[in-house]
Amino acid sequence: MCGIVGYIGNKKAKPILINGLLRLEYRGYDSAGIATIENDKISVIKNKGRVAELDKVPGINDLQGTIGIAHTRWATHGKPSTENSHPHTDMSKQIAVVHNGIIENYSELREFLQKNGYTFYSQTDTEVIPNLIHYYYEKESENDKELKLLKAVHNTCQDLKGSYALEIISSLLPDKMIVVRKDSPLVIGKSATEKYISSDIPAILSYTKDFYLLNDNEYVILSKTNADFYDKDLNKFNKPVENIAWNAAAAEKEGYADFMLKEIFEQPKSIRETIGSRLTQDGTCNIEGLNFTKEYLESLNRIYIVACGTAMHAGLAGKTIIEKYCNVPTEVDIASEFRYRDPLIDEKTLVIFISQSGETADTIAALKLSKAKGAKTLAVSNVIGSSITREADYTIYTHAGPEIAVASTKAYTSQVVLLAILAIYFAKVLENKKYENEIKELSREILELPSKLEEVLKNVKPIKKFAKKVYTEKDMFFLGRGVDYTAALEGSLKLKEISYIHSEAYAAGELKHGPIALIENGVTVIGIMTDKNLVEKTISNVQEVITRGAKTLIISNQDLGDHKFDNVVTIPETNPLISPILSIVPLQLFSYYISKEKGLDVDKPRNLAKSVTVE
Ligand code: AGP
Repeated sequence: MCGIVGYIGNKKAKPILINGLLRLEYRGYDSAGIATIENDKISVIKNKGRVAELDKVPGINDLQGTIGIAHTRWATHGKPSTENSHPHTDMSKQIAVVHNGIIENYSELREFLQKNGYTFYSQTDTEVIPNLIHYYYEKESENDKELKLLKAVHNTCQDLKGSYALEIISSLLPDKMIVVRKDSPLVIGKSATEKYISSDIPAILSYTKDFYLLNDNEYVILSKTNADFYDKDLNKFNKPVENIAWNAAAAEKEGYADFMLKEIFEQPKSIRETIGSRLTQDGTCNIEGLNFTKEYLESLNRIYIVACGTAMHAGLAGKTIIEKYCNVPTEVDIASEFRYRDPLIDEKTLVIFISQSGETADTIAALKLSKAKGAKTLAVSNVIGSSITREADYTIYTHAGPEIAVASTKAYTSQVVLLAILAIYFAKVLENKKYENEIKELSREILELPSKLEEVLKNVKPIKKFAKKVYTEKDMFFLGRGVDYTAALEGSLKLKEISYIHSEAYAAGELKHGPIALIENGVTVIGIMTDKNLVEKTISNVQEVITRGAKTLIISNQDLGDHKFDNVVTIPETNPLISPILSIVPLQLFSYYISKEKGLDVDKPRNLAKSVTVE
């Protein structure tokens, strides 16, 4: 997905912009470009392909400007090409813009501008923006150049339908930059004499920890020393500075071959951060930011958990725990389905949204819909100040630290942990006596998870060995029952996205109802068995596939009796409700090693982006 970087200060902008773009590479892109201003003239350099290639384009090192904007493009309108890359300028080359998002009515605006004498050089939706700013600038009667440009940007935004985060520089106002956002992320990092702008905090985290987190329809005029904020009606207001406690080193590989491997191995630490002081050994449970009352929780007739991809799988694991200890029917929905299916929502519904990035377009749309229908909304996110956290009534953070690899790993385990803690919190508010002892036991088990994860991570060899054996396969199957099925779904998604191997996850009991027809000699089946009450059942399903010639990998913490399986990865025992937090780790590693065996780009799998900010 597109990425934005900007700089305004005393240093040469180009190296800072390129460095920022490199840090945004994980989002996925097909072209990149930068623009700076020098001697009141805009210079644009852009290129199809990687940022490293952009950095070799002749003339790029001659850019001396101390103000600049930069972009990595993920093609939506118009093929990947140099002409379609950002920044785009207006026809007179006085205004340059980078844009994340999609302008839905660009054809109409383009036609209007063409009728008014404007010429277009790309197939993008973005090119209408600098031209429309130019159009309004020329029409504006305001004398003050700064306000004149701001008003032109404001008028332009009134015409735009869709989503946008924009950085705008102009030779008409060469020492300033205007930024604005709507439904697309944008943050501003600040120091006394510099401003760093980005779509993503990690890209600029090495420069500052002080950020302005922009809301929708807020406009900012930036100079190296100032940030002037304007609301949707161009009234000036003050915005507080937020301190982001993330460590810049956490956004680096720190000696690991890939971000994904680093993030897998970070899980004991990230889980510790998620638990924080929310749970204690003596059984207390507090979640900052939540103040639900017993009356409110008792009034609920339904909880929805809404998310996409991995976050949705975390929701499936969380559903079982919430439903059990809170006694409220809890449904998990895919955000892109939920938003279009007119779900049953009223003021007696609580809707929980899970999103690592907090910027997933479908999840945000589902949140807005739920609010409009009168439900209370609770966001579970990893990114402070992200869009869902600003929309939701309540927010709780996973505190897993920056997740860079496209394939989500530590965010998943942190999400499941946080949902388990949330279930405990709900049960305590509800004064649920029935499960008091069980909940105490669950709290203890949650606190033991980091050290158990450390144990899991010591047992990498058999996973690597099995991955080596099967990496050339075309299809694989994941089986499990209950929460093991939810882990199977996530394991299967990981495999698909980074190894490009077709895989399916089945509830083991469903095998006989169709999928077993696919099992033949040599097919790979991964069985997950962490629940004492279900282990025998899953064993018998796995035996059925072995009889039909399948190669198997078993992930288990149960006594497998006399059954002899070829490849078993034993994980520590824990409460089955939270076992996906342990059982997913060998599956993450399995996908990782397969991807490495195949020589693929683990962190940036094809066709995928870290943050899916468009529908
Ligand atoms: C996970 O490996 C995927 N890349 C993807 O499914 C992801 O979980 C999904 O796009 C949701 O993202 P979010 O958590 O940032 O909303």
